[in-house]
Amino acid sequence: MSPTIEIIPAGQWGEAVGGRLARFLAERPGTRLCLPTGSTPGPAYAAFAAGGGRLDRTEVFLLDEFVLPAGHPARCDEMIRRDFLDLLDHGPAALHQLDPGAESLTDECARYEALIAGSGLDLTLLGIGGNGHIGLNEPGSAPDGITRIVGLASSTVEAAARYGEGAPPQMGLTLGLAAVLASREIWLLVTGEHKAGILYEALHGPVGSDVPASFLQEHPNTIVLTDEAAAGLLG
Ligand code: PGA
Repeated sequence: MSPTIEIIPAGQWGEAVGGRLARFLAERPGTRLCLPTGSTPGPAYAAFAAGGGRLDRTEVFLLDEFVLPAGHPARCDEMIRRDFLDLLDHGPAALHQLDPGAESLTDECARYEALIAGSGLDLTLLGIGGNGHIGLNEPGSAPDGITRIVGLASSTVEAAARYGEGAPPQMGLTLGLAAVLASREIWLLVTGEHKAGILYEALHGPVGSDVPASFLQEHPNTIVLTDEAAAGLLG
């Protein structure tokens, strides 16, 4: 089944997505929720918090992490705290993440893969990179890929440089496409004219590793929550 597409006026996008998330979680206590960072979800997280949204009956898993020292402002755990968790009166029942400071990154990725494989994910929110990545599954990623250490594409390094000062990361840890695509429901969050081309490719181009987000065409329960600018080429 191809993804459902919901086009939301830019000025209402954050409130619409944040409200939708609050309703989903209120109706389904115990949700295992996977969250992205980056600039796209910020308005939705802020609106969720402003509306009194709560995560205290939700188990949160971070989608990915940059290999950067603890406390670095571009780290995903720092971004999610800054942009979301610190704004809430009722934080997550549990927060799980990949630890790039672990002694063995291979073991750390295996631990996270197993933790998620247990009961799977109920809802995964995703952004899309300008190169079509989801999580840090860069072009070339296989749909059955596991959680692993990845070298970042140059466009991802450039994007990460905007998330915090200092040298940007070159490596990351990411949930693999297998676990992402096994999520029972996926919301792809896309805003801005600069994402219009890649969103079109992801939804209407060939399905394959060149554009990892294209695998969402084959996912049974994906909703694309886009603003009008990013939807500009969808016709
Ligand atoms: P952005 O990143 O929200 O900062 O554009 C999206 C992504 O790379 O997944």
